[in-house]
Amino acid sequence: MPTKPGPILVTGANSGFGLGASLRFASRGWETWGTVRSPEKADVLFEAARKAGVGELVHPTVLDVSDHDAVIDMWDDLPPFYGVVNNAGYSEMGAIEDVTAAEAKRQLDVNLIAPAVVASCALPAMRKRGSGRIVMVSSMFGRVAIAPLQGWYHASKFGLEALSDVLRMEVAGFGVKVAIVEPGLFKTGIEESARSIASERIENVSSVYREAYRRSVGAADVFTRFAPPPDIVARTIVSAVESRRPLRRYVVGADAAIATATPLVPKVFTDAATRFLTGLSGPGSDNPAD
Ligand SMILES: NC(=O)c1ccc[n+]([C@@H]2O[C@H](COP(=O)([O-])OP(=O)(O)OC[C@H]3O[C@@H](n4cnc5c(N)ncnc54)[C@H](OP(=O)(O)O)[C@@H]3O)[C@@H](O)[C@H]2O)c1
Repeated sequence: MPTKPGPILVTGANSGFGLGASLRFASRGWETWGTVRSPEKADVLFEAARKAGVGELVHPTVLDVSDHDAVIDMWDDLPPFYGVVNNAGYSEMGAIEDVTAAEAKRQLDVNLIAPAVVASCALPAMRKRGSGRIVMVSSMFGRVAIAPLQGWYHASKFGLEALSDVLRMEVAGFGVKVAIVEPGLFKTGIEESARSIASERIENVSSVYREAYRRSVGAADVFTRFAPPPDIVARTIVSAVESRRPLRRYVVGADAAIATATPLVPKVFTDAATRFLTGLSGPGSDNPAD
């Protein structure tokens, strides 16, 4: 196996894409640091790495990337990374009318600000080396806003796409390449965490969106049952780091390929379809211009 140019950091490494990518990096000979939010989750990552026969290459690191000061404070204790994968994220499921400012800020802290903070911390070493890779795990929902009740998730991922495009231009001259990964729906822990947020909202008797939450959770259950396992996304993340010329964007999954083409479909159709699915198909607007 050829010598690697340096170690890799994966955020949110105990579950889903982050776990898959960490194990795959290590199986290909990369020293891999993975952030997790608790010692128990560090054990999950450590045990998975041990079972995969790569225990000595995987270094679980307890760090909540949404605590931006903690990321900066810990950075001096970490090695100079060749690649960072900003993967940690969740969906703050909720109608825009229901989501509080604090909940919205938390969503942006995790999905948008943390990737910028991690990238900023990693860049000085990458510039010094004259090479590096930053992978941003976005979503098909970073390209098209088609999911009612996921407004803040959409906003976080649209923001991440914009930020990544700008970062790519800013750091290209230093030999650092930025790639965005845009998965469709895959079977990971994210659906369960969104469902638990939705369940709390269903309990809120003053919300007029309770039925929509119920229907969304029901639809998500069905879609998730047929969703593919996360392996192909993990492979894509690793190839975005290993490729000499990574793509700017990797669309992963048939649903993502279709969704990212929906800007070509008139909004009147996509609005009607998504409102029907969530039960938000009330009388709608009287304005024929809508
Ligand atoms: N699965 C999909 O269908 C899909 C599709 C498109 C994009 N994505 C994106 O893929 C990335 C990985 O998600 P996944 O699907 O692999 O989900 P996952 O299995 O739930 O893993 C998410 C990871 O992010 C961490 N995380 C969640 N909330 C956090 C918070 N508040 N602060 C810090 N870390 C947090 C989790 O840590 P804990 O275990 O401690 O919560 C976990 O390690 C996310 O950015 C997500 O938006 C997923």
